[in-house]
Amino acid sequence: MNRKELKIGLFGFGCVGKGLFELLQRTPQLNAKILKICVKDKNKKRLLPLQHYTYNADDVLNNKEINTIVELIDDSVAAFEIVKKAMENGKAVVSANKKMIAEHFNELLELQEKHQVPFLYEASCCASIPILRNLEEYYDNDFLSLIQGIVNGSTNYILTQIVEQNTSYQMALEQAQENGFAESDPMMDVCGFDAKYKLLILIAHAFGTVLKSDDILNVGIDQLTEMDFQFAKEKGLKIKLIAHAQKDEFDKITAFVMPTFIESKDKLYSIDNEFNAVKIVSGFSDTQFFIGKGAGSYPTSSAVISDISALTYNYKYEYKKLKLNECLQDDESIVLKIYLRCSLENSPFLIPNFIKVFESYSNTKLSYTIGLISLMKLKMILNQNRNQVSVVLFESLS
Ligand SMILES: NC(=O)c1ccc[n+]([C@@H]2O[C@H](COP(=O)([O-])OP(=O)(O)OC[C@H]3O[C@@H](n4cnc5c(N)ncnc54)[C@H](OP(=O)(O)O)[C@@H]3O)[C@@H](O)[C@H]2O)c1
Repeated sequence: MNRKELKIGLFGFGCVGKGLFELLQRTPQLNAKILKICVKDKNKKRLLPLQHYTYNADDVLNNKEINTIVELIDDSVAAFEIVKKAMENGKAVVSANKKMIAEHFNELLELQEKHQVPFLYEASCCASIPILRNLEEYYDNDFLSLIQGIVNGSTNYILTQIVEQNTSYQMALEQAQENGFAESDPMMDVCGFDAKYKLLILIAHAFGTVLKSDDILNVGIDQLTEMDFQFAKEKGLKIKLIAHAQKDEFDKITAFVMPTFIESKDKLYSIDNEFNAVKIVSGFSDTQFFIGKGAGSYPTSSAVISDISALTYNYKYEYKKLKLNECLQDDESIVLKIYLRCSLENSPFLIPNFIKVFESYSNTKLSYTIGLISLMKLKMILNQNRNQVSVVLFESLS
């Protein structure tokens, strides 16, 4: 097969950019060559001779020889400007920037349509797991009802280290950063934003619905305490940060990101460290699991390489499901079984929000309650007490 020749302008030469550079040296059959690398910090020591780099985006975006832009920077605002201009200049684009993609999904669709250029972003969701192209191509005629999983490698690594190695939260976070698993701003990971951006992209490709960031509740792992981990251990459970999206028979979508207790019989129980896993339930093929590394230099670059390869044979997403007519389920009718930990003083004010309480416990300082609560009431509690409570979903959607 004759592959199209790709002349690449690369933005970003950090964890993923360097990984891509190395993997491209090992895949000469791809017919893809990096012509210029745009980075930001003029004072940083560089791996390659300085003539390979520029600090001016226009040197790359206006270079007529370059037909493909690979955007791997850690700034979503600058990334959108780069991707937009690249498409306006008729260049194919590959990106790993889930925040930028989730926040500008509709604009990016319009740009692809208007300028007839491909825009691929497999690395933005679960790094090495080939989930987007599967949702696009393999499941194009199958009716998906659930997509759920561990989609953030950094928080999964932190939770594993806390439980398996008895590492402190702070130390585990630092290790995740050292290993290149964490976002430049780790709050994106630990507060569940990164998982939410990925879920938004997954929902668009799985169900064909483009939701906004504010539509989906994200609860992170940053407020989890010793008491919560102790509770999980005593019950033989693990806490994992899970992205959930479900579509009912009336095409109403329920979606959120929340720490979730996982039972040992659940396949997600053994997905540890930087590994990610996505569970899909479809009308015809039933339940399927995808497992792979969800962060790190080579695993993420492997997805970028795959997108680059796909461009050489003119692949583009067709967004075949986008015309489906779904909407969000209303928050009041979504009832969740949760564990809510709060201070002893706060507890009498929060417990009345539960529809039903199964169990309560208090020590001298803290209290937890297990019960049923509507998503609407849970959002209200979190709006008012975000830094004073921890929430763990007790039962996964299924
Ligand atoms: N790391 C992972 O495991 C992983 C997994 C999946 C997706 N991603 C995504 O991949 C992207 C890159 O992540 P990373 O971990 O490689 O980040 P990183 O190690 O922090 O590197 C960021 C790179 O972006 C460059 N940069 C920042 N702003 C720029 C600008 N305005 N113009 C040009 N260059 C700019 C930086 O330049 P300097 O070198 O001058 O500082 C640096 O080279 C992010 O969108 C991230 O969400 C990462």
